[in-house]
Amino acid sequence: MASTADAGEHVVGSGVREEDQQSPKTLVDWALQILSTADPDEKARLGDLAASLWLRGEIPLPYDPSRPSPPPPDRPARSAGVRLLPPSRMPKLGKGGSAQSRVAMLHSLAHTESWAVDLSWDIVARFGAPMRMPREFFDDFARVAQDEGRHYTVLSARLRELGSHYGALPAHDGLWDSATRTAHCLLARLAVEHCVHEARGLDVLPTTISRFRAGGDEQTAKLLEDIIYPEEVTHCAAGVRWFRYLCLRSCSDDRTSYSVQETEQTIVSADDKMVQQAKDELTSKIAQDVNGRDEMAQQVEVGLAKCKLGDSIDEDEAAVIETFHRIVREYFRGPLKPPFNTEARKAAGFEPGWYEPLAVKEINVEGETLE
Ligand SMILES: [Fe+2]
Ligand SMILES: [Fe+2]
Repeated sequence: MASTADAGEHVVGSGVREEDQQSPKTLVDWALQILSTADPDEKARLGDLAASLWLRGEIPLPYDPSRPSPPPPDRPARSAGVRLLPPSRMPKLGKGGSAQSRVAMLHSLAHTESWAVDLSWDIVARFGAPMRMPREFFDDFARVAQDEGRHYTVLSARLRELGSHYGALPAHDGLWDSATRTAHCLLARLAVEHCVHEARGLDVLPTTISRFRAGGDEQTAKLLEDIIYPEEVTHCAAGVRWFRYLCLRSCSDDRTSYSVQETEQTIVSADDKMVQQAKDELTSKIAQDVNGRDEMAQQVEVGLAKCKLGDSIDEDEAAVIETFHRIVREYFRGPLKPPFNTEARKAAGFEPGWYEPLAVKEINVEGETLE
């Protein structure tokens, strides 16, 4: 039933298939294949496979420095079977008081999770090699991608149990907009998607769980509460961790050729052609820099040592948070909306100092946000 954009021969199942083994060589190759896979079930299956292989050490390289990868698609392949509508034309989901409303909520959640799969592989494919990220970055986002695929899979299975399916209802067509706005800057991508949006998910999930429970759908409530909610905390943690890492690495990096600042300055205000040119130049520099690997490894070690969750690094933390505020104000449309799930955010290492100065007093909890 499942097919990829370019390989209709796939059949859904578990384990490594012949065609899976033949194709991608590096984790970035896998990410590109997954982003080009339209069928959401197959996308999740391939993602699960790629993450498992990577985390078991069966994919030797995150990327091949001698062979620059093509850039990921501007917009990942999506199934034509899911009708997309502009956010303003989306029907209201309701508050879970009826079976119809609960199915609409579930459908919306499955849709969001499916985009989250793409978002996780996009950060790997788009930024991993050009920003020379360490292996732990690939580990973290492979795990996040695997989680998001599992979330999509359990929610779409639950939809089928309730007599519906993913694609039975229209879906929000704005979920890639902020990914597009942050496609040129890893700091912006981490801040907006992997900190702000993941944390917003933590804010609204408890209400969503209560609504399913109050409507008598304990099974969906348990899926959200026991599987999805705790894993979403780790996703926000990954965003915070790597945002902090990048800031600290760029501060301690004397070799500015690969620094975050340079990448931002080079790419931030360029048009599309220049963006591509800058990326190509950066990738080419990386491919040539074989001798710099020891130095890079040392730099990575220093960066990682500084950004372990829970570490107290007061003198650096203020600068990291200031950068976060600047980036969010620039790239996130609108203020952050309380109330915040302070406990879950704290568990992710996302302390109030990071987000409270970006909030407004206005409270808007009734909208069924898709963030
Ligand atoms: Fe998720
Ligand atoms: Fe997530």
